[in-house]
Amino acid sequence: MEWKPDKNNSKAVYKQIADYMEKGIQNGLFPIDKPLPSERKLAEAYKVNRSTIVSAYAELEANGLVEKRRGSGTVVSKDIWGLAKKRIPSWNKYIERGSFQANMPVAQRIRNISEEETLVNFASGELSDELMPDEYVRKIIKSGEFSGHLGYDHPQGNIGLRETIGEHVKRYKGINAKPESILVTSGAQQAIHLIIECLLKPGDAVVIENPSYHYSLPIFKSAGLNVFHLDINKNGFNPEDLIDLHKKHQIKMIFLNPIFQNPTGTLLSVAKRKRILDLSSEFGIPIVEDDPYSLLNYTGEDTATLKSLDENGNVLYISSLTKIAASGFRIGWVIGPQPVIERLSDAKQQFDFGHSIFSQWLGNEFLRSEYFETHIQSLKIRLEQKRDKMIKSITELLQDQVDYFFPHGGIHLWCRLKMGIDEIKLLEQSIEEGVIFTPGSILGTKSGFMRLTYGKASDEEIPIGIKRLAKALGKITS
Ligand SMILES: Cc1ncc(COP(=O)(O)O)c(C=O)c1O
Repeated sequence: MEWKPDKNNSKAVYKQIADYMEKGIQNGLFPIDKPLPSERKLAEAYKVNRSTIVSAYAELEANGLVEKRRGSGTVVSKDIWGLAKKRIPSWNKYIERGSFQANMPVAQRIRNISEEETLVNFASGELSDELMPDEYVRKIIKSGEFSGHLGYDHPQGNIGLRETIGEHVKRYKGINAKPESILVTSGAQQAIHLIIECLLKPGDAVVIENPSYHYSLPIFKSAGLNVFHLDINKNGFNPEDLIDLHKKHQIKMIFLNPIFQNPTGTLLSVAKRKRILDLSSEFGIPIVEDDPYSLLNYTGEDTATLKSLDENGNVLYISSLTKIAASGFRIGWVIGPQPVIERLSDAKQQFDFGHSIFSQWLGNEFLRSEYFETHIQSLKIRLEQKRDKMIKSITELLQDQVDYFFPHGGIHLWCRLKMGIDEIKLLEQSIEEGVIFTPGSILGTKSGFMRLTYGKASDEEIPIGIKRLAKALGKITS
């Protein structure tokens, strides 16, 4: 075996080996139905660890090229030459070649373990079960008053719900929107996706905040966008930074979450909100305002949305029921100029023929009910208590190791590890101790930051989770 993998090649070594062996199988170097070299022998021949050969064989097996036989090790599959008249497609190749990018591996890991009941979850950006309006929703369902037809509805969203959203944003966000300029989406997430797909082209330059939830979304990369950053400190970003970015890169769109930002919890001042709107008008760059948190305003801060301050029609406004009611509704909305909404609605029809009629009915009944106001008032109080609980535990147990931005709303606490600890290492140890959080690097920062979401854990779990985090920190620093 003359051939050796190239360790300087950007392609993973196990992949190089799998590709080389695939070619060898096709040209007869490795004959059909004959045992392949053992993992140990191949590891010696290619001067790699045995685990690398295990991964290479696993890849070949997943692609249907080899199979494991008890007693004879790994053999070339008969099916490869169609002897059994079937050829398994190389699923791994298809999985890798699609243009839509996968989530970051750490994000996938967190998602996969977040269901484990013994873990305290400071990672998921949603409300805890006790904060969701389950009982009221059950009441709506029991009322038996579902009167919607069960066929496809308008792809722009059910007209009743769009009217209710129009009233909701007028009352709570100071936004005037007719049903024609509202599109109902599957959460804020789909709204972001539709905007990217329909209004931008590969190679376009866009701006997001850093750190930000948007940074964590592979959809920007999948769409081939060039992403530039407005850096966030405890007062939000500096709008003046946009001037330079636009000069250098001809920015086509700005994605912002100015009110109780995810992950930093920061609230951009009214002066800065107005300034970014002025710059957007001056340069003719649209702003996408992603606003899932502004109703979670504990202490009466001025949370006027960019859309409500926008005199020129520069803002596409997004919000949803996720952070104020329940993530499972999957109800979100975009508000913007009618032609834009019609374009997005046309795309939504192509994607999914419009949102589920039943979920829209429930969302509508909930949003227009008198109960909604009561729910929001108690939610704010409960979230403020959770924030205080988390901060109290941090002060007691982690004061020397962690500092944070103090949020006046939302559900997230943005923390810095004072000793420059690698937060991925901390996450691994924390999982061992039974607590998870979102590492800052997923959201755009360098090492040493983490997002602790206090909205998701129960009151009892918060001090337990911080205690476990302190234990994990103790272990990796000792
Ligand atoms: C700023 C921001 N935008 C959008 C979303 C997606 O929310 P939804 O569940 O409405 O799709 C989130 C959720 O974490 C968020 O924080």
